[in-house]
Amino acid sequence: MGRIWTPGGPQFVSRKHKYFDQILAPGISVAPPRRGDRDSSLSPALQLASPPPEGLPGVFPTPGDLSSTLSHLQLCPSVLEFEPRRDSPIARNRSQPLLEVSCTTMETRGMDSTGREFTNAEEMWREQIGEEDGHKKRQWYSNGVGYWEGVEASIDGVLGGYGHVNGADIKGSEGFLKTLLSDRLGPDFATHQRLVALDCGSGIGRVSKNLLLRYFNEVDLVEPVTHFIEAARESLPDDSVLDNHKAVNFYCQPLQEFTPEAGRYDVIWVQWCIGQLVDDDFVSFFKRAKVGLKPNGLFILKENIAKAGFVLDKEDHSITRSDLYFKELFNQCGLHLYKSKDQKGLPNELFAVKMYALTTNIPKRAHAAKTRSQTFKPAIIT
Ligand SMILES: C[S@@+](CC[C@H](N)C(=O)[O-])C[C@H]1O[C@@H](n2cnc3c(N)ncnc32)[C@H](O)[C@@H]1O
Repeated sequence: MGRIWTPGGPQFVSRKHKYFDQILAPGISVAPPRRGDRDSSLSPALQLASPPPEGLPGVFPTPGDLSSTLSHLQLCPSVLEFEPRRDSPIARNRSQPLLEVSCTTMETRGMDSTGREFTNAEEMWREQIGEEDGHKKRQWYSNGVGYWEGVEASIDGVLGGYGHVNGADIKGSEGFLKTLLSDRLGPDFATHQRLVALDCGSGIGRVSKNLLLRYFNEVDLVEPVTHFIEAARESLPDDSVLDNHKAVNFYCQPLQEFTPEAGRYDVIWVQWCIGQLVDDDFVSFFKRAKVGLKPNGLFILKENIAKAGFVLDKEDHSITRSDLYFKELFNQCGLHLYKSKDQKGLPNELFAVKMYALTTNIPKRAHAAKTRSQTFKPAIIT
């Protein structure tokens, strides 16, 4: 059992009940950077909930005080590197008894599915994939694919026993996709052009079948596990179906080795599989895959989100990253956040799920006057 605190106290965390809320203690949580704070390199800040929980002071005069409070609470005192935010009162006036602590995302602590803590992502990756001849990295990938090779080719199988969330997931994705297609291609997007999508880490073709094939004329799938891609091939409509929407190519390959055909796709959909890729392959995959997009095309990434830092799943050899961790990687990929949306309606015990639409060019604030009430603000990821 690890030192994971939930509002009710420490809890055992099983893989299928991913209650990795990463609440460090009742009332303390790692907060995202403030919106619009371009100098957010020091975020996320460790902040006390307001009002502070019983028995905890609202302010910590020194990092040592905070550290000893965390130890007292049986929390790892090295969870974060303590550093006052540049804009915080302590940076302006060191005599003031106020402290906010912060660090860059990848320097944030994380944990594995047994509750073991890591000081930062670098420590975790060094242990998981090593630094030298690539042997451990190959092992990471073969363990990951090996896990999925032992899973039944069914919706329940690819959703880790949560087949019943399929409906809510597809509904959430459809709302997001429709808005994006209409934004990017115009409201009558379906009538004018032949749309093509790529379903990455497609599993048995659940997303292709329930969503992508309803909006795209052609869908290609890429998936490393043979019995999944074969199940997809058998269940998806092909050339013999004359409704102008068909699955065309089935690539049996892992994403870290895959490069899409140049200029073919309006949307490259990446759902619940990018956690299998280590950071450098995440970045090189997206950099390579950009060539696959049409000029107005975009990536849609839908993933589980850790509250802070990361959570390593030792069973399927995947990593769940925080929103800030993702944004740092998008930045390294040279991708821009066009829009994002939280998935609603999933069981509480699961990770939060987020959808990101990413473009290769800096998004313009198109239709600004018309859509003043819209909340989306295209912005370069900082
Ligand atoms: C949770 S399932 C999700 C499947 C599908 N995207 C869906 O939402 O139904 C994770 C998928 O990632 C695939 N996967 C595992 N390692 C991968 C890799 N290195 N590259 C691409 N996909 C991978 C698995 O085989 C599995 O099909």
